[in-house]
Amino acid sequence: MTRVPGIGIFDSGVGGLTVVQRLLEVVPGEDLLYLGDTARHPYGTKSAATVASYAEENTAFLVDKGVKLVVVACNSASAVALEMLRARFAVPIIGVIEPGARAAIGATRNRKVGVIGTEATIASGSYTRALQALDPTLEIYTRACPLFVPLAEEGWVANPVAREAAGVYLASLRQSHIDSLILGCTHYPLLAETIGAVLGPEVQLVDSATETAREVAATLAEQGSARAGVAGSASFFVTDVPDRFVKIGSRFLGSTVDSAVRIER
Ligand code: DGL
Repeated sequence: MTRVPGIGIFDSGVGGLTVVQRLLEVVPGEDLLYLGDTARHPYGTKSAATVASYAEENTAFLVDKGVKLVVVACNSASAVALEMLRARFAVPIIGVIEPGARAAIGATRNRKVGVIGTEATIASGSYTRALQALDPTLEIYTRACPLFVPLAEEGWVANPVAREAAGVYLASLRQSHIDSLILGCTHYPLLAETIGAVLGPEVQLVDSATETAREVAATLAEQGSARAGVAGSASFFVTDVPDRFVKIGSRFLGSTVDSAVRIER
């Protein structure tokens, strides 16, 4: 039996697995092909032009595999490359910024929204534009938190080092009286508990993953290309040796990453 094309997903490494976790729940019948560009991680400290060229290569790899849709499960790449990818490739391309912005609009009551992300994401201003497009009256406060990515990868998400980093990074946001905070990096959901402890229960943490998975489901339904009533699968590809990805990936996926295949470029 020929298989129906799957969904391609990419990130700089393991972070996008937090989005895969939601896709497994929301579109369980789909075959998921995930590419972690581990050889070139991190993206968040690199220039927009460099990240955009990596994003284009990753998308080309997934499209060559025959996927019917691509999810850019990386805020840094979504922030700088989404429009270019949509113009260059024929398949629908879904990023994580617009879904994250929509989720924040649904969460905020006092119209004061915070955004944290990598340096690339924050410098791009993409969240600010996406939020303002939905509600120009919002007050938006942003902060880059570059150390959160290595902390999440190290599993240092609730120890004194993580608490100290969160305290320093989030101090200005606390003073802004935001009532919702977008975790604008696919690594950050792992630090949710520590971030929540610093900001207090009055600040709702918003991540893009669930809303992104819903957008994927809606796009497939619109196109009549959803695959349901059967069990989907998940395969993982990486651009460097797979050992570390397999070892730490399960924390991001919420279930075991059995294996990953290294691709040559
Ligand atoms: N997971 C990436 C993101 O969502 C950040 C990690 C990196 O810097 O490569 O932006």
